[in-house]
Amino acid sequence: MPALDNFPCRPLRDSEFARIRKLAYDTFGLDLKAGKETLVSTRLAREIHRSGCTTFDQYYRRVVEDPTGESLINLIDALTTNHTAFFREPQHFDFLRSRFLPEQAGRGNIDIWSAACSSGEEPYSIAMCLLDELGAASKQRVRILATDISTRVLSKAARGAYPAERFDGVSPHQLRAHLLRGEGRWAGWYRVKKDVRDMVEFRRLNLMEPPAQLGPFGLIFCRNVMIYFDKPTQQRVVQRLTGYLSPGGYLFTGHSESLTGIEHGLTYVLPAIYRKPSFASRER
Ligand SMILES: C[S@@+](CC[C@H](N)C(=O)[O-])C[C@H]1O[C@@H](n2cnc3c(N)ncnc32)[C@H](O)[C@@H]1O
Repeated sequence: MPALDNFPCRPLRDSEFARIRKLAYDTFGLDLKAGKETLVSTRLAREIHRSGCTTFDQYYRRVVEDPTGESLINLIDALTTNHTAFFREPQHFDFLRSRFLPEQAGRGNIDIWSAACSSGEEPYSIAMCLLDELGAASKQRVRILATDISTRVLSKAARGAYPAERFDGVSPHQLRAHLLRGEGRWAGWYRVKKDVRDMVEFRRLNLMEPPAQLGPFGLIFCRNVMIYFDKPTQQRVVQRLTGYLSPGGYLFTGHSESLTGIEHGLTYVLPAIYRKPSFASRER
């Protein structure tokens, strides 16, 4: 490791914090509020150390000039948390089983988007749920798009292998049905079975720059990412997501994320569940 000067040991200067703040906002929509300097400093210090840079300026230049975009991704990984879990916020999965899927009976394909999917636990939970409820037919009928800005988490997601303790929220039936227990050097790990993995398409996507060609989706999970955005950014993201929903489609947000104060054309259904009005019926 290179000499670290005094950088990792000292908090960011105001001007340095301001530069990172602007970069994170412009690129990812991240709202690093004043008062977060210490947190940002600590996380960045670790990242700078890892990157081999010795000064803030050197690090900053590398991030903005890196043609691969990898350094920017490492920066966002350092500034956000990728925390996730299988069947996190189980009310959403209850709703998926008890209301969303029965409503799809007799209809065509089911398109679901896990926006900000992190390391894959969320879209794989959705896939397992659909396989349990619809059986093997779901493989033909269901398309799950899972996106995140971070290529690091996406490569973990695509591998679909996790240490056993990550499966605390998964029932013994689901463990048997959808996971393979690792052996040898993979002892203590499970891998999501291929038929479940095949139901999910992973793709890199920055919610600040969504492509025009996407959707429509009957259901969008956009959970625990909007907490990083300020209100104007949340407003833009929710409006765009609404545009990607089919009429009558649902948006799930994280339970700690409220759409209060945001203008949207969605109907409140239950905590963290919103619905786009359908053409045919007026939603209550
Ligand atoms: C806390 S995780 C949420 C994972 C999952 N949705 C859940 O609720 O368990 C937040 C994820 O948002 C991603 N993220 C942050 N900013 C983003 C952006 N502008 N576009 C897409 N993904 C973003 C991060 O890389 C991270 O994986």
